[in-house]
Amino acid sequence: MASVVVIGSQWGDEGKGRITDYLASKSDMVVRYQGGTNAGHTVEVGNEKYKLHLIPSGILHEGKVCVIGNGVVVDPVALVEEIQSLEKRGVDVNNLKVSDRAHLIMPYHKTLDGLSEDMLGENSIGTTRRGVGPAYMDKAQRMGIRVVDLLDRDVFEAKLEQNLKAKNNLFKKVYGMEGFKKEDILELYLDCAKKIRKYVTDTTVIISDAIKKGKNVLFEGAQGTLLDIDFGTYPYVTSSHPIAGGVCIGAGIGPTFIDRVVGVVKAYTTRVGKGPFPTELFGEIGDFIRDKGAEYGTTTGRPRRCGWMDTVIVRYAIRVSGISRIAITKLDTLGGLKKLKICTGYRYKDRIIRDFPASLKLLAECEPIYEEMDGWDEDISHARSFDELPVNAQKYVERIQELCETRVCFVSIGPKRSQGIMLEEVF
Ligand code: GDP
Ligand code: IMO
Ligand code: MG
Repeated sequence: MASVVVIGSQWGDEGKGRITDYLASKSDMVVRYQGGTNAGHTVEVGNEKYKLHLIPSGILHEGKVCVIGNGVVVDPVALVEEIQSLEKRGVDVNNLKVSDRAHLIMPYHKTLDGLSEDMLGENSIGTTRRGVGPAYMDKAQRMGIRVVDLLDRDVFEAKLEQNLKAKNNLFKKVYGMEGFKKEDILELYLDCAKKIRKYVTDTTVIISDAIKKGKNVLFEGAQGTLLDIDFGTYPYVTSSHPIAGGVCIGAGIGPTFIDRVVGVVKAYTTRVGKGPFPTELFGEIGDFIRDKGAEYGTTTGRPRRCGWMDTVIVRYAIRVSGISRIAITKLDTLGGLKKLKICTGYRYKDRIIRDFPASLKLLAECEPIYEEMDGWDEDISHARSFDELPVNAQKYVERIQELCETRVCFVSIGPKRSQGIMLEEVF
């Protein structure tokens, strides 16, 4: 009987989908509360691999109510595609609920995302170009169109007209290109509306009822702490709040309803897109991790930048989200490395910094302070208990736990459902 939040503690792609899938077996409801199609959550079930972008990873367990909350930005075309592709593979999507308050990603948002990235050139953020940033911009500017609007032809058409006036002006005057025709978007989106209407509801009521009835509710974060618009490496961030605080706004529940927060921590660090990365590895070891860990973006296929475990970052994530337990993923990837390094702090001029700084300029001048540990050679992906792990792998996990002052509840040693070691129950 609990509400548990699963969040990314680094720069995304920590394995949130995999951990959510594990915890979903014990939940009644799984809720996405922010982000959009920029997310790519991979879950392996038997020989099947699913890449989920909008629909909560709980959908792969029969009978779980899966909610796309108001804080998510919904691309209706992508949503319909995801529903259809899951159905084709025999996944029951009838328990999906979509918030009537969620904002829509429109075709012009995707175009604007690309144009703004191109215009920034060298200084681009490296977005997924899925229109996520521009959709949140319109939401904040009070120009956004919501799911509830899409269900009413007249309201949708009027809002679309109003938006196109502004957007087409921008396309023509700033970017010197043709704008969008209302008719092209109208029919496409109204067709999607027909297909998603049956899932749309006031999701805040459903979530609140579930909590009141003592159900287990899981909130599945997308992206990660350092991509949070307030706490991330701004401006190299996404436009939403992946941190635990994002749950309250993005799902419509009060903070008193959150019982626990599980921070997903990859056994090393990765980042896709631009921006600072203190423990980044450029040589052989980085390539080894990328190859062995198959570190290529789920959404865009871009190679992920890889680096050593950085506990300055994880401790920061623990602080800003009130993480109560950590789940370590991809420990198996590190097998075969003679020595492993863990960053414990940053050296900046004659100071030692232990709290993640706001200034990117300062961060760029920081040098990681490392502790070195012995690695292990064995393949650990078949271990069934913590004791079965090589002693050096156990020591590595224990050291992270110690440096982060937070207990580890789960160790993942492979992408499959069976490849996980539960150390402490979360529900
Ligand atoms: P998310 O965005 O946080 O859900 O993570 P992604 O799905 O983008 O990236 C994590 C990748 O690592 C996926 O391909 C997972 O199947 C895979 N994965 C998750 N946990 C493990 C693990 O413990 N070991 C290995 N080898 N792969 C894992
Ligand atoms: P999951 O949920 C990793 C990154 C992009 C870019 C920045 C802004 O799979 O962990 P955006 O398209 O959001 O405006 O891009 O954020 N980014 C992610 N990186 N995992 C993700 O999601 C990401 N979603 C966005 O690469 O640097
Ligand atoms: Mg991902």
